[in-house]
Amino acid sequence: PKRILSGIQASGALHLGNYLGALKRFVDIQDEEPFIFVADMHAITVWQDPAVLAQQTREIACAYIAAGLDPRKATIFPQSAVPAHAELAWIFNCVARLGWLDRMTQFKEKSGKHKERSSVGLYTYPVLQAADILLYKATHVPVGEDQKQHLELTRDIAQKFNNDFGAPGGQPAFFPVTEPVIEGPATRVMSLRDGTAKMSKSDPSDASRINLMDDADAIAAKIRKAKTDPEPLPETVEGLAERPEARNLVDIYAALSSTTRAKVIEDFGGKGFGTFKPALAELAVEVMSPIGARMRELTADPAQIDAILKDGAERARAVAEPVVAETKKLVGFWGA
Ligand code: TYM
Repeated sequence: PKRILSGIQASGALHLGNYLGALKRFVDIQDEEPFIFVADMHAITVWQDPAVLAQQTREIACAYIAAGLDPRKATIFPQSAVPAHAELAWIFNCVARLGWLDRMTQFKEKSGKHKERSSVGLYTYPVLQAADILLYKATHVPVGEDQKQHLELTRDIAQKFNNDFGAPGGQPAFFPVTEPVIEGPATRVMSLRDGTAKMSKSDPSDASRINLMDDADAIAAKIRKAKTDPEPLPETVEGLAERPEARNLVDIYAALSSTTRAKVIEDFGGKGFGTFKPALAELAVEVMSPIGARMRELTADPAQIDAILKDGAERARAVAEPVVAETKKLVGFWGA
């Protein structure tokens, strides 16, 4: 059976990349009843102030609802409220090989020059991610391009577990080999200041990204000031190949209006940025500012969000617990 799952880390403000690469896509498929969680256990792989972590978790949940997720369709929950994530992660730590983790580029980026001072959690981060996914036997995981390598590791872990424990006597494989779903025009939204760098919450320049909580004026100003080249938009999609900034703005337009790059070029090819940018600013404000406004309303009512998270956690536990119990049995744990 098809099961869709994804999550976002509880580590600070969300931006347009998270919205187009993840959130909006969750909303688009919500009739398939996805599991959508807040990765608070992943967040603490780098220091998070305990006084604000729970609030950050609620904020991501608010973003889910504000973007249009319906908690009756999507199961929305905090990762740490389902202890089976940690149990399965430990077992997977013993399935994954050091060599596999050594190849993970995100660890290299995030640990930088200070590898020996990084948390061990930051290193095994992708193993916890595999547990998040396989605990629900998820078959499809919608994510942005930057998560591709983690999804490949998840497939390797599933296959090795199945091989080592999972298919006794030729039974069907225990864990599915999950498909990453990296689709649409905005799987890698780039910085508004540099078309070769990913839009990211760690970029020191706030002008490089549109935050979910930015108001209409801020959104319009950031698009007006976005870096471009002096040429008008090309008449064909191929003409965007060597023009990263132009391509990024075209892709953002396509994703915000749920259309394709080709359609945007059909409408705006040959036009200058003097025409295209105001149209993009108007569209971005129209789509994004109601989400920000709704988020502000929702964050003012934590009791409502907490009720949604509590209910989601119960539903998630009901699915996760039998899977982890079965996994422990396959591994051979006492009493399992
Ligand atoms: P996180 O919290 O960094 O990002 C959340 C989602 O946003 C996508 N994204 C982008 N998409 C397009 N353009 C960008 N510039 C951009 N920046 C971020 C990410 O690809 C992601 O889909 N490890 C995950 C969280 C996680 C998870 C999981 C995801 C934990 N367990 C299980 C799926 C399944 C992460 O840090 O995402």
